[in-house]
Amino acid sequence: MMDKPESRPMLSRRDFLKLLTVGGVTVTGGYLLSEYAPWLDFNQQADQIWRPFDMASTIPAQMRELVHYATLAANGHNTQPWKFAIKENAIEIHPDYTRRLPVVDPSNRELWISLGCALENLLIATCASGFAPEVSYPDTTDFINVRLTTDTPQSNPLFDTIPNRQNTRSEYDGQPVKNVEMDQLQALSLEPGVSLRFITTPTDLKTVLEYVNQGNLSQYADKAFIDELIYWLRFNKKESLASLDGLYSVCSGNPEVPRLLGKAFVAGTKPQQQADVDAKKLRSSSGAVVIASEADDKSAWVRTGQVYERMALTMTSLNIKSAFLNQPIEMTKIRSQFQSAMGLDNSVPQLLMRFGYADAMPRSLRRPIEAVLL
Ligand SMILES: Cc1cc2nc3c(=O)[nH]c(=O)nc-3n(C[C@H](O)[C@H](O)[C@H](O)COP(=O)(O)O)c2cc1C
Repeated sequence: MMDKPESRPMLSRRDFLKLLTVGGVTVTGGYLLSEYAPWLDFNQQADQIWRPFDMASTIPAQMRELVHYATLAANGHNTQPWKFAIKENAIEIHPDYTRRLPVVDPSNRELWISLGCALENLLIATCASGFAPEVSYPDTTDFINVRLTTDTPQSNPLFDTIPNRQNTRSEYDGQPVKNVEMDQLQALSLEPGVSLRFITTPTDLKTVLEYVNQGNLSQYADKAFIDELIYWLRFNKKESLASLDGLYSVCSGNPEVPRLLGKAFVAGTKPQQQADVDAKKLRSSSGAVVIASEADDKSAWVRTGQVYERMALTMTSLNIKSAFLNQPIEMTKIRSQFQSAMGLDNSVPQLLMRFGYADAMPRSLRRPIEAVLL
């Protein structure tokens, strides 16, 4: 009688482990490939967005170029909270409240400042391309109207800097800004009711640092603040290119990570860790400047945005980098103490920015004109 053949496993243990490893590597590799999408070209998209102004020949094409330049302005969390209406002889800038930031900006103050930044770019570009603009501020309306009549083009050195401006959130090189450049910044033309307070002495900078620390400790202890921030964070190139808005981690000097990992990291950031990071950044800066306004209403916020954008463009023309540290102003309970500490008796602080010398960072993206036209 023949022996019964020995029953043997289909796969040896070693083969099974090999298969498991190959499978695991394939799945992980596939996941990472899909998260990092190396085939997507970020720089090509950024170049297209930050392209120089096209002096188009027809009025409708010129109007679209003007709107495009307005969208290159700074704006809170890169929400791009604007809509534009192109009329026969005017461009209107409307708020897009669907893109508001209810936690960090409950009164839409920073939203209207963002519209003011867009207005400033628009005005510089209209004059440079042969229009005379006349602005109606949102005192009685809920939008900004810019009436345009044709004129001879006016040259303005800030026009060419619009595609180069950025918020540079890295550490700076610690060098003081040259006196001649400080003089130019201090001589910046302002809007009615808006003022600047430059802070460059170690004692005053230490005071600013204390308030930024306080702001960070409050904000990063607030789950609603963190959730809102995470909603607008784009943790990798694929996310950034898909939405064309929000805060792309690489622009702030952080690595690209899958969303799950990024969320866990931000949610786990201790308030003190964030305060330490920003303290280092402020210490590496040459100085800081507070932009303040007498009134605290929509028109004052728009004018503040204009002055900020003008200042940022002037800094860009001098190769000076800047970034915001608005924490002490965003926290209402700290804002009035910060106002007194800065000696701003009759003006409320609206924005706080640091400045200095540094290399440029990767550029943030913008949605196309079609997405922002009413
Ligand atoms: C009103 C306002 C508030 C802002 N607040 C901050 C801030 O607190 N921290 C920060 O890093 N950037 C802040 N920003 C900068 C925006 O995040 C930035 O403009 C946006 O991401 C687009 O990037 P870009 O300016 O480099 O083009 C603010 C911008 C504006 C207009």
